Amino acid sequence: MTHTLIYPNSTRHNERGHLEIGGCDVVELAEKFGTPLFIYDEEAVRDQCRRYLEAFSSRTDDFEVIYASKAFSAVAMLQIVDQEGLSLDVSAGGEYHTALVAGFPRERIFFHGNNKTRGELEYALENGVGFVVADSFMELDLLEELCAARGLRQKILLRITPGVHAETHSYIQTGQEDSKFGFGLVEGIALEAIRRAHTSEYLELVGLHAHIGSQIFSMEGFQRAIEVLVGLIKDAHDQIGWSCRYLNAGGGLGIRYTEEDSPATVDEYAEVKVRGLEEAMTRVGLPVPRVLVEPGRSLVGKAGVTAYRVGTIKEVPGIRTFVAVDGGMSDNIRPMLYEAKYEAMLANKADEPEDTLVTVAGKHCESGDILIRDIEIAKPEAGDVLVMPSTGAYAYAMASNYNGNPRPAVVLVKEGQAQLIVERETYGDLVARQRPLEGGQAGDR
Ligand code: LLP
Repeated sequence: MTHTLIYPNSTRHNERGHLEIGGCDVVELAEKFGTPLFIYDEEAVRDQCRRYLEAFSSRTDDFEVIYASKAFSAVAMLQIVDQEGLSLDVSAGGEYHTALVAGFPRERIFFHGNNKTRGELEYALENGVGFVVADSFMELDLLEELCAARGLRQKILLRITPGVHAETHSYIQTGQEDSKFGFGLVEGIALEAIRRAHTSEYLELVGLHAHIGSQIFSMEGFQRAIEVLVGLIKDAHDQIGWSCRYLNAGGGLGIRYTEEDSPATVDEYAEVKVRGLEEAMTRVGLPVPRVLVEPGRSLVGKAGVTAYRVGTIKEVPGIRTFVAVDGGMSDNIRPMLYEAKYEAMLANKADEPEDTLVTVAGKHCESGDILIRDIEIAKPEAGDVLVMPSTGAYAYAMASNYNGNPRPAVVLVKEGQAQLIVERETYGDLVARQRPLEGGQAGDR
């Protein structure tokens, strides 16, 4: 079995030579639920939640692991995360709504966003959100106005841009000074924001937050971000008399998409966050705040795979063989947006030698709709089921209806049982909110 690094641990080849995940034959799942199909191994998600909790609880009593639901926000997934005892990060009103539908305890929800609208904030406040992570002076003003009108005192954190460069794709770096997110440190802006929030009648400033980026393998950036935040906490203590009770150090731990990737482990990540914070706080002589982390990708990424059906196979003599599948950029935009690399295999030919070099193309009307360039798989034929691993984060979450493709179904597998948690969209869904031209059909004219 060569695939354990990038597939869920329950993955195996069964007696029929098919790929099996969570005790379910992937070829059967593709037949039963159709393709493209997202398949999540429930135990893999739960294991990863527990791995995080254990990594932190073995180092400190005062911590919270917050699932960044933007990675994959679905009611059933949020319920799993809640059962495992994690908290939740939502980044828009719709994610908050999904959390409410899932029955997620509101007091453990953190509401993020660099431009939360008045409507989103009203929705969150009226539905008892635990924490708002405020991003700008304008948002502080708006929050105060909304809280004052409702007689509320809202717990908030401030998002700080620590001026730290994370080694990852530039589109998913967020900690640098030149960023649309948060309060920067130059010219005392962050300190001013702390002063402003701390003196507010309607806001209770409980802590600071920083997220430097995503798909990060090296721990250095996290360490530096903590040091910068602790410097700010010290200044705020000395100059304003404010004490920081929560330090939310963001998410960002990378995962393996290909066997060559080598991200840090959850343990190494926890070590930096917990010890790094303790050491830095000890140096400035202040009590250690509760440490919060906010992983998305590393909780659900490896637990999910996508199954596609192979259609057209086109050989360009002497150049390459395109194997087109029945999805692509509308269910996984990551290869096109971030040049993300993935691997793949044929689920119905799991025991066959992987000796055919192909390029896996999507079905959308764009030359750039290529999921994987140059990969060796078993000899492909139309009707094969091609599986791409490590698609559990930011694939379904960023799906679109481009070219009129309905969004795929999502199933949860466990001990040989498959549960549909998101239905496949229908053609009817595509036009359900559309209205015909007033004054009759175009054909009438
Ligand atoms: N907290 C905040 C405030 C965030 O902005 C994010 C991710 C996270 C936590 C979770 O980060 P993670 O642990 O998943 O790295 N669509 C991109 C990733 C964008 C991440 C945005 N923020 C991708 O597909 O790579």
